[in-house]
Amino acid sequence: MSHDVAVVGSLSVDFVMQVPRRPGKGETIAGFDFSTFVGGKGNNQALAAARAGSQVAMIGRVGTDSFADEIAGKLEADSIDTSYLFRDARTGTGIANIYVDEDGDNSIVIVPRANGCLSKEDIQAASAAIASAAIMLMQMEIPQPTIAAAAAIAHDAGVLVALNPAPAPPDGALAPELLCLIDILIPNQSEAELLTGIKIHDQITAAASAAALQGRGAKQVIITLGEQGALVLSGEAPVFVPSFAVTAVDTTAAGDAFCGALAARLSEGRPLVDAVYFACAAGALATTRRGAEPSLPMKESIEKLAGYR
Ligand code: RIB
Repeated sequence: MSHDVAVVGSLSVDFVMQVPRRPGKGETIAGFDFSTFVGGKGNNQALAAARAGSQVAMIGRVGTDSFADEIAGKLEADSIDTSYLFRDARTGTGIANIYVDEDGDNSIVIVPRANGCLSKEDIQAASAAIASAAIMLMQMEIPQPTIAAAAAIAHDAGVLVALNPAPAPPDGALAPELLCLIDILIPNQSEAELLTGIKIHDQITAAASAAALQGRGAKQVIITLGEQGALVLSGEAPVFVPSFAVTAVDTTAAGDAFCGALAARLSEGRPLVDAVYFACAAGALATTRRGAEPSLPMKESIEKLAGYR
């Protein structure tokens, strides 16, 4: 089966607590609501790409628990190919604990569990799904050697390689051999700062950060800047794409909505800046609903906000 988008990444269950503010060191505070959702950056981005109109294959690892069944069920409900969703009896499905404060901002702790076991051998087993896609999309909640193996297969097959370096490695280190295989690198502001050491406070510093990442091997760089939009560095001159004004209640998975919609649009052969404009609309919409999976928008809503309808 051929796919538009292959997503290689994490799948988790999110335990989400609504809190008046995020707790400090040694502090216990009372939250006022609790929900569980399917999540994980890979899972969210696969759902986002499918809802934005793509045929998607999801490549990842889950446990053999009921969380895994729930995740697979949601993917299949969005017609995503789960042939390469590997089950792992050694450990459980990945978990995320998420605090969302009254401004809609979040703090997340992940425990990778099965996501940490996605191996180069798994990637080899899924190589046909990767090689048949127009674009492969990855994040960093799986081991870096696995990411590098997938990037090499996609690159050799002429598939566009996109990496959302989220979460960025704590030491900011991305292997140069990996960066050289990346066609589109999509960090957010804090990830770009961690990767380059350049503090971003305006378009000039965002452009300098993107140029630094391009200088290290990434062919094109998109830095997402939340409600400020996104900065795109493809050729010589950076292009700034503004975002859309919405009322945000929860920013969880806004970056995932952006990346999934971007991949879907690029797989249709659209130009990069057009795809970023569409992705900004998807990211903005994702902030208007609570939770990861329920907030990922459908193509019709994205097109409406983008003014295509
Ligand atoms: O990007 C949001 C996601 O990050 C959540 O769904 C959570 O699982 C963490 O991986």
